[in-house]
Formats: sequence, structure tokens, C-alpha cells
Amino acid sequence: MDFTLRAANVDDCKDIARMIMELSEYEKLAHKMKITQKDLEQDGFCKNPFFHGIIAEVPEHLKSKEGHTKIGYAIYFYSWSSSSGRAIYMEDLYVMPEFRGKGIGKALMSKVAQLGLAAGCTQLNFTVLDWNKPSLEFYFHQGCYDFTAESGYHLMRCEGEALEKLAQPPQSYSTCGHSLSCTISAIKNVDYFILGS
Ligand SMILES: CC(C)(COP(=O)(O)OP(=O)(O)OC[C@H]1O[C@@H](n2cnc3c(N)ncnc32)[C@H](O)[C@@H]1OP(=O)(O)O)[C@@H](O)C(=O)NCCC(=O)NCCS
Repeated sequence: MDFTLRAANVDDCKDIARMIMELSEYEKLAHKMKITQKDLEQDGFCKNPFFHGIIAEVPEHLKSKEGHTKIGYAIYFYSWSSSSGRAIYMEDLYVMPEFRGKGIGKALMSKVAQLGLAAGCTQLNFTVLDWNKPSLEFYFHQGCYDFTAESGYHLMRCEGEALEKLAQPPQSYSTCGHSLSCTISAIKNVDYFILGS
């Protein structure tokens, strides 16, 4: 099939938002989706982007039934492991149903792998829902393995009120000396640097 891959730009956010919604419907998670086109524009295309995207596109004559030419995407960002250093994390991989089985998903994932290797990463991480057997099989077919099953690691999360509570500095911090308050103000500056771009 005739398709191209390219880095996503801010004008792709409408289609990325559409495909994120399609993916969430497939994953039965649509009710949990909070991300809007504006969030994508802000977080992916600021001075220090929180994520990067790759778009799969077909020529006009192959557009989808609804008229879309942007028919697949991957979202990734870089991370770091204290055991093995640089890593790349693939947050999303999606191909619209009528374009599946034509090598587009593999090409998108291969591009993420290429970018990771070029940046010195030694691993590509991602999660898959346990019932999503076709995608699990697709990943196994690419030589990936189930790290959770083999390592016993669980992905943990803190959010909402628990996160707000966790972020409150314990009262004792304010009285325990100079160096810690310097560290905290340094962290605030880093936050400002990232978020204020
Ligand atoms: C998973 C997904 C991205 C794969 O994309 P795709 O374009 O359909 O896959 P491709 O055509 O690129 O597959 C390429 C290769 O994987 C193999 N493959 C694809 N699906 C497979 C499956 N279910 N089982 C085994 N192998 C599979 C193909 O046979 C092909 O192998 P080859 O290169 O040796 O010939 C796509 O099916 C999709 O978007 N699924 C729904 C969303 C989803 O679950 N995303 C992942 C969330 S974690």
C-alpha cells in the first residue's frame, strides 16, 4: 500500500485527537479520555515537548471512507532507566481499521525503534491491555516480550487527590535547614522552565 510516514506537526493535532478517540473506543476506555486537540497542541508543540508524534498518511485517492488521509499515528517520548540508561516509550500505536494488515503499524513502530536507537536508547517500552490479543500477537511477532510477566514489576500510579496530597511538603521541611529549601526552589525553577515554554 502507498503510504508515507512523517513527524507530526501542530496541524495534525485535530486528526491525532480523532485517532486517540478511536483508539480509546477500541480499548473500551473512551469514558476516561480527557485529552483535547488543545492539550495536544500545547504539550506536543511547545519549546520542551512532552511527547512527539509520527503520522502515517495515504495519498488522496486512497483516503478512508470518511475522507481521512491521516490514517495512523504513533506517540512516543524519551525516558531513562537507572539500570540501562536511555529508553524510548511508545505511548500509542494506532492504524485505522480499514488500513490494518498492510504494514503500516509495523512501519510506525519501526520508525519509533529507529529514532530510539539513533538517540542512544537501548529499549523500547510500552503497555498493552491484557485482552488485546491481536496487538499482543503483533508485538510478539516484532520480537517484543512481556516484561511484566517476566520481571514481576507492576506499573504504579498516583493521581488526583493522592497526588495533590503527596505533593504537599511535610511541615518539618520548612524548619530543617537551608539546603533543602534551596533544592525545592531549584525544582520549582525546573518546573517553570518546562511548563512555561
Ligand atoms: C496493532 C496495530 C497497530 C498493527 O498495525 P497493522 O498495520 O495492522 O499491522 P501490520 O500490517 O503493520 O503488521 C505487520 C506484521 O505484523 C504481523 N501481524 C499483524 N497483526 C498480527 C497479529 N494479530 N498476530 C500476529 N502477527 C500479526 C503481520 O503478519 C506482519 O508480519 P510480517 O511483517 O512478518 O509480514 C493495528 O492493528 C491497530 O491499530 N490495532 C488497534 C489499536 C491497538 O490495539 N493498538 C495497540 C495498542 S497497545
